[in-house]
Amino acid sequence: MPTQADISREIAALHAAGERDRAAGAPAPQHPARDYAPYRSSTPRHPHRPLVEIDHLADPEAVELSGPAFGRTDITDLDADLTRQHAGEPLGERITVTGQILDRTGRPVRGQLVEIWQANASGRYAHQRDQHPAPLDPNFTGVGRCLTDDQGRYEFTTVKPGAYPWRNHDNAWRPAHIHFSFFGPAFTQRLITQMYFPGDPLFPYDPILSSVTDPAARARLVAAYDHELSRPERSLGYRWDVVLDGPSATWIEEGR
Ligand SMILES: [Fe+2]
Repeated sequence: MPTQADISREIAALHAAGERDRAAGAPAPQHPARDYAPYRSSTPRHPHRPLVEIDHLADPEAVELSGPAFGRTDITDLDADLTRQHAGEPLGERITVTGQILDRTGRPVRGQLVEIWQANASGRYAHQRDQHPAPLDPNFTGVGRCLTDDQGRYEFTTVKPGAYPWRNHDNAWRPAHIHFSFFGPAFTQRLITQMYFPGDPLFPYDPILSSVTDPAARARLVAAYDHELSRPERSLGYRWDVVLDGPSATWIEEGR
């Protein structure tokens, strides 16, 4: 199994190559390589054939036919508050995460479904595949959703997730993060990414975050602490705005 030093060396080489390309005039990549070697499982599992193009101009309804329909009545306030989904309160540092979703022209993306999933405060997912020996929290499932409002804003109340180990390499730990999914107006426009917390000491060791080789794009994945969003006696506030497309796009895990 590779060591952290092996992985860090590979990350440094790929970042240096990216810097050389940009210095030579290449545009900053909008998406990471699908087979980013330091993130070991991306190599065998990335698509090996070109993605299937859907000709939505020739047959626009083909996209809509396979898409889900979300009505306002399907989603309640409880879905966006992960601290109130069980009989008791979950353990951990309570946080509010909010932000605005914009398209490439700066227009708010309204009425769109935003979903999140995350580990609990101990760094454990409530999922059978997660066998990390950290405690499960009977009062925390770690799944939430909401619709953006007329300004394109979303908001969740939850607890800060813990860092957790994984088996990419020896002594591999993921920085604390929340997984986000954004649905556009069609199922085929679902975008998935991860939000990180400012100042996490694990950033330089993480091959998933480092697969975004442009430092400015990596920085856009990190939320900002915002004291105005903190609530007295209740929760700490983080702001994380998302641009779904264009040169300032927040990096996503799949190409569009
Ligand atoms: Fe995760």
